[in-house]
Amino acid sequence: MLAIPARLQAGRIANPETMGITLKTPEQIEKMRVAGRLAGEVLAMIRPHVKAGVSTDELDRICHRYITEVQGGIPAPLNYKGFPRSICTSVNNVVCHGIPGPKVLKDGDIINIDVTVIKDGFHGDTSRMFYVGEPSVLARRLVETTYKAMKLGIQMVRPGEFLGEIGRSIQRFVEAERFSVVREYCGHGIGERFHEDPQVLHYYDPARGKAEELRPGMTFTIEPMVNAGARQVKLLPDGWTVVTKDRTLSAQWEHTVLVTEDGFEVLTLADGETL
Ligand code: MF3
Ligand code: CO
Ligand code: CO
Repeated sequence: MLAIPARLQAGRIANPETMGITLKTPEQIEKMRVAGRLAGEVLAMIRPHVKAGVSTDELDRICHRYITEVQGGIPAPLNYKGFPRSICTSVNNVVCHGIPGPKVLKDGDIINIDVTVIKDGFHGDTSRMFYVGEPSVLARRLVETTYKAMKLGIQMVRPGEFLGEIGRSIQRFVEAERFSVVREYCGHGIGERFHEDPQVLHYYDPARGKAEELRPGMTFTIEPMVNAGARQVKLLPDGWTVVTKDRTLSAQWEHTVLVTEDGFEVLTLADGETL
């Protein structure tokens, strides 16, 4: 997730013609496919390890080793703006950017694992929710609603669509379920850089309106963060961990997508996986 600078949250941003939105060439797209698939495969690999009794540090170590030794890739979060680990692990009321540590998972927890792999100079960024044992009825509904919100946003992607409309649809869907959308963090363009233009909001900001029209060759993430309670968040003193202000549960799913000539391609599916 990209933090939205306060000065932009309610402000205007320039149109894509003048912004740093890069349109990827066919050669670059092929590299994005490779990096994206690797990131998706890390999430598939880690799945059986996500169970009661494991620490988030252990999950980090397993992912680090897999990315560097098996995939020949680089875990993008490690040392990114000083982030100290190779993945983000966000448990229960943690919204995003949770730092792996000694925390041990227990039955009933929900956890988001966020993986970004760099391969051959390009980034693939994806995250998903896991249940530790049996989730509560509320936790399951939150996780499923968040997944549907991401999927709904992805399925709108096509040339000529506006980013603002995607955020609007995600927000409408989430709020109809009586949940809330986090506004301080958003999706982002991605490629040779981890976080590029455009910002992909998961809510509607009338000030940005229809400025950003999708075009073939754009690559960006859609990664809604959804809270069971109020949308407000708080940054912990570690400078990274974002939690819900009211301590309610939060969920997030993320994929990296490509705008194709007639729609979209999800770049971060593991081999054989479907949306
Ligand atoms: N993967 C996150 C995203 O979706 C960013 C994590 S930045 C880190 O954009 F430094 F916390 F790793
Ligand atoms: Co991202
Ligand atoms: Co991510």
